[in-house]
Order: sequence, then C-alpha cells, then structure tokens
Amino acid sequence: MIPKLPFINGGEENIPPGPRGLDAARFVISTTRDFLGPVTRMCAEYGPVASTYSRGRTLVVVAEHEMARQVLVTNQDNYEKGMEYELLRIVLGNGLLTSEGELWRRQRTLVQPMFAKRHLGDFTGYMTRATSDALEEGPLSGLGEGDVVDVNRAMMELTLDVVGRALFGADLSGDTARKVGPAMNSVLTLGVKMARRLPTFILANLPGMDLRKSFGLNPENVGFRRAVGALDEVIDEVLAERESRDEKGDDLVGLMLSVTDPETGEGMSRSQVAAELMTFMLAGHETTSNALSWTFRWLSLNPDARDRMFAEIDEVIGDRTPGMEDADRLPWTRAVIEESMRLTPPVFMVGRKAREDDEIGGYRIPAGSSVMVLIRMIQKDPRVWDNPEGFAPERFLPENRAGRPTQAYMPFGAGRRICVGSTFAMIEAVLLMAMISRRYRFDLIPGVPIEEDASVTLRPKNGLPMVAIPRPTG
Ligand code: HEM
Repeated sequence: MIPKLPFINGGEENIPPGPRGLDAARFVISTTRDFLGPVTRMCAEYGPVASTYSRGRTLVVVAEHEMARQVLVTNQDNYEKGMEYELLRIVLGNGLLTSEGELWRRQRTLVQPMFAKRHLGDFTGYMTRATSDALEEGPLSGLGEGDVVDVNRAMMELTLDVVGRALFGADLSGDTARKVGPAMNSVLTLGVKMARRLPTFILANLPGMDLRKSFGLNPENVGFRRAVGALDEVIDEVLAERESRDEKGDDLVGLMLSVTDPETGEGMSRSQVAAELMTFMLAGHETTSNALSWTFRWLSLNPDARDRMFAEIDEVIGDRTPGMEDADRLPWTRAVIEESMRLTPPVFMVGRKAREDDEIGGYRIPAGSSVMVLIRMIQKDPRVWDNPEGFAPERFLPENRAGRPTQAYMPFGAGRRICVGSTFAMIEAVLLMAMISRRYRFDLIPGVPIEEDASVTLRPKNGLPMVAIPRPTG
C-alpha cells in the first residue's frame, strides 16, 4: 500500500476532500506548468472547497462566492497574504501589495487618497496623452488595412507608458523608459519560475537572506537579478532628481514625497517610496494590459457587441480627446470590459495563508494552510450567472446589476486588500478602448488559436496577433 503523504500543518481530520497520496503528487507536478487548469479541475471533481498537499502545507482551493467572502472579507483577520507574495516581496520590498500589519495599514492610509477623484483628473491626462502618442508614433501608429499587430504587446507598452507617466510625470522618457518594459517582464516571468522551485523558495524564507544579491549563477537567476537591478536604478535616478527640486509635482512620485501621516506627521522614507513605485509599476500595467487584450479578443468574437460599442464611442466621443467624465458616459464600453474581466480575469485567483484554524463549508482549514480563492471559477458559477460561458455585456449595464452577490464578481479582489488602483484601472481601460476604437477595429486571425497562460496573470500565451482594420472617421 502506498503511504499517505503527511499534511505538515494540522493533520487530515475533516479537511476538505481532494487528491491524496500519489494523486496529490501528480497534482503538484501538473501545477508546475499551469496552475489554473489543475485547480479548476480539482474543484470541479471534489467541490467548491477542496484540498490537497503541496510544499509541505495543506493547499485549500475555494471556488464559491460565500466561502470567498469568508476568507477575504468577514474573517479576513485570520488570513494573511499567501506564499506567492513572499517571493514578490523580494522584488518589491514591503510595498502595498506585499506588506502586512501596521506597515500595510499606514501605507494604505497614505496612498489611498492619491487615487481620489481630484488626482484622477491629472492621471486621465497622462492616459490620453500616452494613447495619442501610441496612435501617432508608437505601437499603434500607421496600421493599414490587414496589417497584423500583436495587440497584447501593444497594450503592454501602452499601459506601461500610462503607469510610468502617472508615477513619474514626464521624467520617465527615452532610454530610461525603454529599460523599464523588458526589465519588468523579466522580473515577472523569471520571478515566477524561480518561486516555483522549492530550494529557492526555502532560501527566500531564511532570515537575513537577500536573494537579490545571493541567487545562484544559472542564467535565469542572473537575468532576474539584472532586471531587478535595472528597475532599482530607474527608481534611484528619478528619486534623486526629484528630491533636488522644491516643487515635488502632481504625479505619484511627487505625492509620495510630499505626503505626511496625519497622526505622526512623518513622511514616507525613501526606501518606502521606492517599494511603492516598484509595486505600482508591477501591479498597475500588466493587469490592465491583459484586461484590454482579452477585451479585444472577445469583441472580435462578438461583432454585435462590438458594433454597439463603436456606435456609443462615435456618438459620445467623436473626434474629441476624452476626459475623466467620459468614462461614465460610455456604459456599454464599460460593460464590455467588465464582462471580459468576468470571463478572463487578469488576476484569476488570490492567495492567502490561514493564521489560525477556520471552518469553511463545514470543513476544517488548519492553521498554516495556503488558501487560494479562485476568482475565475467563482465568476462563472452557474448558480449565479445565466449562460456563464457566454459573452453578455448587458449583465453589467446599471439596470441589470441589482441582486447579484457582491463576491460573485471580484476582478479587483475584496476586503481591505482590494485593489487600490481599481478606479484608475477602469477609467484607463474605458478611455484607452474608446480612443483606440475610434481608429481601428481588430480581428482575430482565422486558424490562429489564442491560448491562455495562467502563470502570473491571465495573459495570452503567445501574444495576441490580430488584423488591424482602420475605421472610417467623421
Ligand atoms: C484591470 C486592472 C487591474 C486588476 C484586474 C487588478 C487586480 C487586483 C487584485 C485582484 C488585487 C488584490 C490582490 C489580493 O487580494 O491579494 C489588487 C491589488 C492591488 N492593486 Fe490592482 N489591479 C488592476 C490595476 C491596478 C492598477 C492600475 C494599480 C495602480 C496604479 C493597481 C495597484 C494595486 C495595488 C497597490 C494593490 C495592493 C493593494 C493592497 O494590498 O492594499 N492595480 N489588484
């Protein structure tokens, strides 16, 4: 008989059902390539709360909105950020996304007001200027009928430009800006590969270990270290220049350098500002870019929804440059993006670690378990959504929203760790979509399959090649 693998934290009694023994080992191996597929299949087989054994811990997957609410909202004090954030912390330092406790609370209090409406007005200008530049001289300029363009790549460049301008105003330009994109991409992809390796993971958690300096010498580790170094350099350059000025500016760097804690009167330390900048660069561009990319794909598959969107944009925006107020005047365009994020959420799950034992759906969740909330599966739950696999933006029109459980749709997460940039992201997605759609229609290329890569965010595996068709203007 094959012995059962032990669950290191807390034993097996009354934990949620799921693969055990050799099946658990097979499950873990299958997740090294793709995480989303295996965990989705696990919940389909064992139920909306399932568990297995991975990396010496109980791994619990939650795929039902009320259970998700328990983890992320009602009992959120019992859950801290999960293992996958631990490696991210090496890259980001203790920024908003990765920090915990008092430090997180203080930073959130300082940073949240920077996303209030009065600042979003300034940020909107950065968004539309970056898009005009992309259309005039960047990745979306001069496309003729039938030209093939990698829409995902173009969106990555554009959203990085937007977040760069919102963070650094005009400072991030030319050579510096060109360094940021590739470095960010290496940090994300190599970082995730390394995080999946158990030895790296164990090393990363040893006290006093600075993995930015002491990773081994294989090419991936060297590439990762170089990329982290390049990002650090950009941030150092920008901060040094800015600190030398009297006027700190109305972009995020300026706001961060000027803000003070109302209780203590203290500002943010330089290393804290650097950690937040790194966090915003990472959290703020890849997600929005994937949201837009998947939306272009859904629109190509649903020409009626697309025609309706074009009609709305042509009527509301015409040849004007849109502003912040226009984001509310384009309800169909917004609904299209929201429906795209229901079916293909850029953040397809969020991970937590249980501090103490909890009970979910009648099962025991032992202290120390990794708990994954499967946003993608929750957003396709047939008990909440009619025709859950179908693309139907009308679900998100204001008149059709009532009566839906809050956590049935949560592309920006939930609870106190909900995305601080969600309003920024939605305004950005709507305005970019409007400006790009005045110029072009993008069609999928027949016979070219678009596969999903669910390693970091949910993105198209080999880019998103599409055919551009310029739209008649006027
Ligand atoms: C469509 C675009 C976006 C999506 C889908 C998205 C999604 C998310 C999700 C799901 C979380 C919660 C993670 C968790 O609970 O573990 C999160 C957190 C966060 N996001 Fe976003 N995000 C987007 C855009 C942005 C933008 C544009 C920014 C900044 C400009 C941003 C900055 C952050 C930060 C700083 C956090 C951490 C907040 C905290 O823990 O206090 N995000 N995001």
